[in-house]
Amino acid sequence: MRRLLITGGSGYLGRRLIALAVGRWQITATYFCHPLHGDGFIATRMDVRDAGQVAALMAQVRPDVVIHTAYTTESEEAMQRVIIQGTRHVAQAAMGIGARLIHLSTDVLFDGRRGHYTEDDPPSPITPYGRAKAIAEAIVAAEASDAVIVRTSLITGFDPPDPRTRWVLDSLREGREIRLFTDEFRCPVWVTTLAQALLELAALDYRGVLNVAGDQVLTRYEIGVRLARFFGLDPAGITPALAAESGLVRPLDCSLDLGLARRLLRTPLPGLDEVLAVQETMGINSQI
Ligand SMILES: NC(=O)c1ccc[n+]([C@@H]2O[C@H](COP(=O)([O-])OP(=O)(O)OC[C@H]3O[C@@H](n4cnc5c(N)ncnc54)[C@H](OP(=O)(O)O)[C@@H]3O)[C@@H](O)[C@H]2O)c1
Repeated sequence: MRRLLITGGSGYLGRRLIALAVGRWQITATYFCHPLHGDGFIATRMDVRDAGQVAALMAQVRPDVVIHTAYTTESEEAMQRVIIQGTRHVAQAAMGIGARLIHLSTDVLFDGRRGHYTEDDPPSPITPYGRAKAIAEAIVAAEASDAVIVRTSLITGFDPPDPRTRWVLDSLREGREIRLFTDEFRCPVWVTTLAQALLELAALDYRGVLNVAGDQVLTRYEIGVRLARFFGLDPAGITPALAAESGLVRPLDCSLDLGLARRLLRTPLPGLDEVLAVQETMGINSQI
C-alpha cells in the first residue's frame, strides 16, 4: 500500500480523509491538541511550527503523498506561525523526500468583488486569514513544484455536523436569533466529496492550483435557510443581513469556477441541494 501523511488528521476534513483512506493507504495522521484514536492508521502528535518535528516525521514515515490540512485562525500571530511558517516546513520536508504534496487552500484569498474565480486568478486577499493563505500558496508553489494547491469553500457535513452547521442548528433550537448575510456568496462542499476528490488527486499527476467545491453558488443566508428546513426547524429564526453594511471587512462573492475540476476528476461535485436530497433519503435529518 502507498503511504499517506495527513497533517491536521484531528480536524474536520482530516477525520473524513482518514475514514475514506483506511484500508486503501498506509496512513499516518497528525494531531496537535486533540489526540486521535482509531483503527487502521497511525496517529502522531506534530506541531507544524516546529521545522525539526516536521522533517523528522517526514523522514520516518517517508510518505508518497502528503495532504496538508493543518491550520488555525486563532490570531494573526498564530496564522503567521501555523499557516505561513508551518506550510513552509511541510512543503520543504515533503520536497526533501520527494513526496507529492496536496495543500489545502481557500476561496477567501480573493477580494470577492467578482466571483466565479478560476485557477488563473491571482489571490487578492482582504482579510488576515486570506493573506496568510495566499502567502502559504506562494510558498508551496516556490518550494514544491509538483504540489497541488486545492482551493475550496465552506466544508459542510452532518456526520458529525461541521461547526457552522452545528451553530445554526443549536441557535435555532435554543431560540437564539441568528443573522446571516445575503450578499456573501460561496460554494459549500460536502466533506466526503472534498475528501474523495483529494484522494483521487493523490493518484493523479496534476500539479498547480485546482478549485474543488460544491457546484452551487449560495449566499450564507440561503445555506442557513436550507439547513433549517432540512432539519425541520423554522428558518424565520434566521434574519437576513448585509455583510456590506456590517462594518466588517469580508470578501463578498468568493464563488469558484469548477470547470477544470469537472474535467479532471471522476468525483462528482454536487451542490448543497443535491447533497441534501441524498442525505434525506438516508434519513440523516431525523438523527441529528
Ligand atoms: N472549514 C472550512 O469551511 C474551510 C473552507 C475553505 C478552506 N478550508 C481549509 O481546509 C483545511 C481543513 O479545514 P478544517 O475545517 O478541517 O480544519 P479544522 O477542523 O479547524 O482542523 C485544523 C487542524 O489543524 C491542526 N492544527 C492546528 N494547529 C496546529 C499546529 N500548530 N501544528 C499541527 N497541526 C495543527 C488541528 O489539530 P488539533 O485539533 O489536534 O489541535 C486540526 O487537526 C484548512 O487548511 C482550511 O484552510 C477550510
